[in-house]
Amino acid sequence: MVELLSEIIVKLISSDVFDKGKILDVGCGEGSHLNQVIGKLQKKTRIKFDGVGIDISKEGIQVASKEYPNNVWCVGDLAKNPFMDKKFDIILNILSASNYSEFNRIISDNGILIKVVPGSNYLKELRKLFYYKTDKESYSNEKVLNHFNNNFPLVDKEQIQYTVALDRIDLENLIKMTPLSWSATEKKVKRALDIGINKITVEFTAMYGENGHKKL
Ligand SMILES: C[S@@+](CC[C@H](N)C(=O)[O-])C[C@H]1O[C@@H](n2cnc3c(N)ncnc32)[C@H](O)[C@@H]1O
Repeated sequence: MVELLSEIIVKLISSDVFDKGKILDVGCGEGSHLNQVIGKLQKKTRIKFDGVGIDISKEGIQVASKEYPNNVWCVGDLAKNPFMDKKFDIILNILSASNYSEFNRIISDNGILIKVVPGSNYLKELRKLFYYKTDKESYSNEKVLNHFNNNFPLVDKEQIQYTVALDRIDLENLIKMTPLSWSATEKKVKRALDIGINKITVEFTAMYGENGHKKL
């Protein structure tokens, strides 16, 4: 995913125009995505990026500040963030809630917003087991995409899909972590473990827009 994000950024920014920029990860969790994206951008461009991450989880920010001290990390609510207007050239919003009025306020002129959401095949093996023949068996991110386009000028979107090999412990951790299991019955969760899924599909859509771009 970080490779895709860095490619989108490189495609949209012009290194002739600026030699340093500010990148914000909203809902950054434990910070590894922001850190990796900046690492990739350092290799692909001559722009020096300052990274800032914000998350409402104190625990996530504690991990981020310890692991990646070169970036700035803050605990805060994305809907009431402490940043000044037009401060960021790039805003990342990965698998996290959004607040477009704040994104529009803090993004610079011509700044880029990239939002990553699950695709319809994301964890499809678990979705099938937990929600077989229910309305949750399939998922579409179309509403999120439309919401983005109604609130920020959408330029394009890209998909990535891959599979990840799992052993039983990974599977147990994944099942505990994913909201997909939260409303599944205990019987179905047990069945998923017993069946022993050994690989899982991951699919993401990265939708991106450019401030000042003409709306589609
Ligand atoms: C699924 S995690 C994704 C974390 C990270 N972006 C990643 O991809 O690894 C969603 C994150 O959004 C954060 N979050 C939820 N509501 C938030 C809010 N109102 N303000 C800031 N962060 C929030 C959570 O604490 C969590 O770290």
